[in-house]
Amino acid sequence: MNPFVETVRSYRQGASTLPGQYYTSPEIFAQECERIFRRHWLCVGREAQIVTPGAYFVASVAGESVIVLRDEQHVARAFYNICRHRGTRLCEEQSGELSRSIQCPYHAWTYTLDGRLLGAPHMEGVEDFEKREYSLHRVPLEIWEGFLFLNLSPQPRSLAEAFTPLADRFRRFRLPRLRPSRRIGYVVEANWKLLFQNYSECLHCPVIHPGLARRSPWRSGENDLAEGPFLGGFMLLDGDSESLTVSGRACGPVVGELPHEDLRRVYYYSIFPNLLVSLHPDYVMFHMLQPESATRTRVECEWLFHPDALHDPQYDPEDAVSFWDATNREDWHICELSQKGISSRMYAPGPYSPRESLPAAWDREYARQLGQHAEDVG
Ligand code: FES
Ligand SMILES: [Fe+2]
Repeated sequence: MNPFVETVRSYRQGASTLPGQYYTSPEIFAQECERIFRRHWLCVGREAQIVTPGAYFVASVAGESVIVLRDEQHVARAFYNICRHRGTRLCEEQSGELSRSIQCPYHAWTYTLDGRLLGAPHMEGVEDFEKREYSLHRVPLEIWEGFLFLNLSPQPRSLAEAFTPLADRFRRFRLPRLRPSRRIGYVVEANWKLLFQNYSECLHCPVIHPGLARRSPWRSGENDLAEGPFLGGFMLLDGDSESLTVSGRACGPVVGELPHEDLRRVYYYSIFPNLLVSLHPDYVMFHMLQPESATRTRVECEWLFHPDALHDPQYDPEDAVSFWDATNREDWHICELSQKGISSRMYAPGPYSPRESLPAAWDREYARQLGQHAEDVG
């Protein structure tokens, strides 16, 4: 299909950007936490972060601190980071190795890695006290393509059901087996939605990203998911480029079993509400967003490679990391400038072009998730 026809087909006349308060209001941010971030499956990391029993990290999501760990049966689990005695935060460090238990730093209540209360000093004298009633509060945790997702809703629908449109879509990239090479954290002084909207179009590429525009023609490609919580498609690599790297050369072995056409493509998908996945022939990059307030977003960006890449003579992860680190910073800067302009009293919603059909679709999905019609929001 002609990519331009596809873009125009999914465009709806009259779509415009969101009103200013959606980027600045603490009240709307609180609603988003309640209706979106405490109800959805949220990506918090990769299985590779907790390989051995006792390995853990702490995730901050929608104002909650959650311990994500591997238990002694090798099961990945998540618990609210609070003690059942007097509520103290259990793990202070962002990551590490637990021995065979979690011990509260206050009065030393001790929990197994699967969350059961093991020891509670001086509680023998308390009538009707039953240890089994004081397990850690579980957080539903599921794994998709090597990514760890948790859900703060006590009884969420299964991740497999929620992710039906993505079932098998990335299988050929063999994502679960890919190994991390680098991770970079950023703090962006902009609303989280601006980062999604920015990721969802390349109209800005020739202006903002000269390096990217050189390797991937901004009008190339096609969207294959154009409505709903998962949006994206591919763009083509230009004639001389093997990948999106500073050198233009592939910087590792092909990540999976990719058909010939995938060697000329980079796929970009946004996964509502906090993950962006960019699949290149020789590496996969993802961005995990953690909104901190209406005007600040933390971003963790990681680059994944073939498990045997280390032994491959062409392995040069910095070629990809430098390319995208520069591109990321260009994006964060323009998002921060957008945030500044949108915060003006004179800002009013502006019209989207046919080249911005995905940001418009993303806004529609956002409005739906917030429980409002796009027309009421826009
Ligand atoms: S608060 Fe944790 S043991 Fe007392
Ligand atoms: Fe960009």
